[in-house]
This record gives sequence, C-alpha cells and structure tokens, in this order.
Amino acid sequence: MYYPDEIVEEVRMKNDIVDVVSGYVKIQKKGSSYFGLCPFHNEKSPSFSVSPSRQMYYCFGCGAGGNVFTFVMEYENYSFPEAIKHLAQKAGVSLPEAEYSEEMKKRESKRSRLLEVNKEAAKYFFYQLRSDKGEGGYAYLKKRQLSDETIKKFGLGFANVTSNDLVKYLKGKGFEDKLIQEAGLASFDEKYGMHDKFWNRVMFPIQDINHRVIGFGGRVMGDAKPKYLNSPETMIFDKSRNLYGLNYARTSRKNNVILCEGYMDVIAMHQAGFTQAVASLGTAFTEGQASLLKRYTEEVILAYDSDGAGTTAALRAIGILKEAGLTGKVLNLEPYKDPDEFIKNMGTEAFEERMKAAENSFFFEIRMLQKDYDLQDPESKTKFYREIAKKLCGFSEEVERDNYIQAVADKYSIGTQNLKKLVLSYATQTGLAKPAERPKSGIQKKNTPDEMRKKSQRLLLTWLVEEPSLYGKIKKYISTEDFTEDLYKKVAERLFADLEQGQMNPAAIISLFSDEEEQREVAGVFNTRLKELTTRAEQEKAFHDIVLAVKRNSYEYYSAQLGSDVSALNQVIAGKKALEELSKTHISLD
Ligand code: CTP
Ligand code: MN
Repeated sequence: MYYPDEIVEEVRMKNDIVDVVSGYVKIQKKGSSYFGLCPFHNEKSPSFSVSPSRQMYYCFGCGAGGNVFTFVMEYENYSFPEAIKHLAQKAGVSLPEAEYSEEMKKRESKRSRLLEVNKEAAKYFFYQLRSDKGEGGYAYLKKRQLSDETIKKFGLGFANVTSNDLVKYLKGKGFEDKLIQEAGLASFDEKYGMHDKFWNRVMFPIQDINHRVIGFGGRVMGDAKPKYLNSPETMIFDKSRNLYGLNYARTSRKNNVILCEGYMDVIAMHQAGFTQAVASLGTAFTEGQASLLKRYTEEVILAYDSDGAGTTAALRAIGILKEAGLTGKVLNLEPYKDPDEFIKNMGTEAFEERMKAAENSFFFEIRMLQKDYDLQDPESKTKFYREIAKKLCGFSEEVERDNYIQAVADKYSIGTQNLKKLVLSYATQTGLAKPAERPKSGIQKKNTPDEMRKKSQRLLLTWLVEEPSLYGKIKKYISTEDFTEDLYKKVAERLFADLEQGQMNPAAIISLFSDEEEQREVAGVFNTRLKELTTRAEQEKAFHDIVLAVKRNSYEYYSAQLGSDVSALNQVIAGKKALEELSKTHISLD
C-alpha cells in the first residue's frame, strides 16, 4: 500500500459518501438510503443506492459498488493513490510522501512488475514516435488522418528498426530479461541474444478499464505480413476479457456501445466523437467480453467489416450478445470496408444516420440466410421459409416470438398464419429454446466446483456482515485459515478482528484493496441480499450448510497439501474434529 492505513482511513472518514456522490449524481433520500440513476450504466429507473450508515454505494442493476474511494476511481478513472490524493485535498488532509521502500519493491507481485514493464515500454514507444527514428511512423499515422490529440489520447508509439534498443532501455530501468520476455516484449535466441519482438511497427498500447497498459498491438507500415503483431497472453493480458477502447467507452455516457473489428476503427470512431467504440483484441469476440459490456450497456451496435469474413464474425457475435442478454444491431457500412474508411469518406453525420438505421440483428441473420436460397425456385424458397421458422423457435417468450413472426411474415410476404403453423410444427419437433440465462452483472457465474467453493466463502462473509452476532457462534469452528480464496481470506482477517472487538466497518475493509475489480467484488460481499428464506428453520439450515461447506472445502484443501506441507497437518486434524462436531451441532440464529 502506498499510504499508511490510518491515513487512508482518515481520508475516507472525512469524505462523507453522500456528499461526494451528490457532487456527481442526483440522489434522493428514500428510507435510510439514497437512490439515483446509476452513473456506471445506462438506466431509466434508479437502482443505484448510497447508504450513509455503511458509507457505501451499490447498484442493483450493474453490480458496481464500493466505498468513497471506489466511487471516484470508477467515476474519474483514477487509480487508488490518485483517488486518495483527490479526496485528501478535498477534505484538507495532508498526505505524507508515498511509502515506497526498496523492500516493498521486492515484495511487489509479478502482476505489478508486468504492468510496470509495459508502462515503460509504452513510454519508450511514445517517445520514439517523436524522435528522428520515428519519422516514418509519425508520417504513417498522419497519412491515416490521426490528429496529435488522438495520437496522444491512445498513447500511440513506434518500435524502430533497431532490434534491441527497447531491451536495452528496459534493462537500464532495472527490469530483468526474464520479465521482459514474459511480458512478450522480447525473445531470446542463441544467435542474436535478447531481441525486441516489435520491429518497425506503429504501436497501439492496449489498456484495461483502469488505463493500465496490459499489452500491445503493432502494425506494419506497408503491406508486409503479418499486418498486426500482438502481445501474447500473459498474467495481466487476457484477450478474452478485455476490449480495446473500453477504458474510454465505459464513461462515454452514450446509450450504446459500437463494437468494431480493428484498433484503427476504434481510434477513428473516437476521433469523430463516437467515444463508445470498442474492439476485440485480434481474436474473435467472446462471452467474457459480452458480459463485460453488459455492465455498461444494453445495446451493442456491430460495426464489422462489410466483407464476407466480417459478416461471418458478426453472425457469431450476434449469438454471443444474445446469450449475454444484450440487444444487437448491425451497421451497414456499404460501400466502404470498415468504420475507419466510412468516417473518412462520409463524415460524422452520415455515420449517425447509419447508426439510426442499424438493422435488428435477427433481420440481419435472416437477410444473410437468404443469400443461400433462390427465391424464384419454389423448392429453395420453401427451404428458406423452413429455416426461418427454425430460427423463430429461438424466441422463448410468446409475445416476442409472435412479434417477430409478424414482422418477418410482412417482410418476406409469407402469410402470418402459415408461418405461425410452420413455427409450431418445428417447436413440437424440437421444443422451444429455453430462455437464455441473463446474468445481472459481471462475468457469468457457472456452477463449477471452483465457483461453488468461492460462493460458500463469499456467502459466509455476507451472513456475518448481515448478522454479526453469528460470529460468536461459529468462531469455534471457523478461522480465517478456512478461507482458501486469497481475496476472501483478506476480508475475513479484517472482519474477524473487527468482530472480536464488537465492531464492524465494511467501508474500511474495501480500502484494503487497491484494485478496482477487487473492490467491486468485496463490495458485492457486503451488499448481497441473502435470498429471502421464509422460515427461521430454513434460514438456519441454509446457514448451517454454508458453514459446513466452507469447513469441508478447507479440510479437503489442507488434506491435499499434507504430502508437501507439514503445517497443514494441524489444520487437517482440527478440521476433521470441527467437521464432526459441526454436523451434529445446531446453530441457532436467535
Ligand atoms: N488483426 C490481427 N492480426 C492480423 C490482422 C488483423 O491481430 N494479422 C486484428 C487486429 O486487432 C486488427 C483487427 O484484427 O485491428 C482487424 O483487422 P483488419 O480489418 O485487417 O485491420 P484494420 O483494423 O482494418 O487495420 P488497417 O485499417 O490498419 O488496415
Ligand atoms: Mn481498416
């Protein structure tokens, strides 16, 4: 941590969350909480709540939540230390010099070292673009009509033709060969030693939602192959869970997100004022990316290339969006190849028009399907109608299905009743689709053993926060060691210590985490409403089951380590005893 805990806590306490949030969002008192429209996703009825007693906010729509630090981090795109500085200034607290000793540096995790090396590399590329050696790169970006402001906003850079200068620079900054290789910035071979991976390319730093550089894409300036070279996946670069441009798009306050194929498309769109544009990272669009988008929007407008490959990719993406519960629409960019070329030739207003005319994704699918059939030939035409009927079975809700049947029938001059009959006959053969699961927020939770393990640990914490008196009843069986998930263990350590003192301070616990994702998850622990179980007996059983599940998991976890870790033995012996006792014990909620 950069600042001492006491200072962090002082800053937090001197910034009342209701005051701070009111500075950005209109909120109204309702009962003991305040409610307003969530600033982190688009909504029409308020599901964003701020609790003065807990000093926390939480959105029941998108799952955003946390304390006053989390709020300014999310809203202003600040890092944790930046949020502390901002709020300290606001409340008149003077901060000491940030702590950053040699020893701390050593203890820093691999993750943050990777982030640092990427940041340094990005700075180096950025600088190179402005140096003599970068003239070609700069001229290329200018030829592509990017303004200096845009180049700066996206931190674009240049990897020059010298084959080991980046490595030299990074080593001079104290980064080891191994780390540089692991970040995918260089490789080693017998003949050339350490040499840069990116060579004579304009560089696109890829940032996560907190503006941290997690990887790079590099484009050749001519027609050489491969056109783009991307960083490999690393501990910090998960291509299926990040999107290029989302760091800006998520606070763009637009009603939709524009999903493009390429980095250049995103940049051209932002430059033209469409700051809600994002792209996947040199790979196909994934489920993880869809659930990421679901946090920020309801509607995704596909702006894929207008060639065959683009159409195939769009059809795939439509399915994934639907699964995630997002509305998809498809842009027609004809006669241009991609959004970048369209905007250059036609301008912003024409693009706005195309956005308004974006096609419902179902109609797009049908229209593409039609290309495989000859509607002049009765047999082919019949097959086409059958395919349509099959697709219509995908709508599980009757009203929605009927609306589509009506619309498609009109569009393709099929009798509505005939089409309906056809749909029904397919439905009886194959059954209607089950409603797609629509996760409310975040990454879709699957019931894997791993997820179940996390879930029971999370729920146990939630119970203790909701009913602190339970702590006294279970502390005999459960210790912080039973939390095998690092994040929950850290929460438990602080929560149990607080409960020992007969107090509890969820908002302070959130500040123990500097990462926004972690803060969000911890806030979730404190804000989950336990399912309304009707009777006391049911509640007691649910709680008992959770305690048992946590203990059993911990017992299995330490048992598995017996061979290699002697200290696990005590945990195992104690765990076995506790499990036996627990299964016979009734824990009363009263
Ligand atoms: N891509 C890639 N590797 C390649 C080609 C493409 O990773 N060899 C990825 C890049 O992320 C690129 C996206 O696919 O941004 C779209 O590719 P393409 O349409 O070919 O490139 P454009 O974005 O149109 O690039 P440009 O306008 O610079 O030609
Ligand atoms: Mn292009």
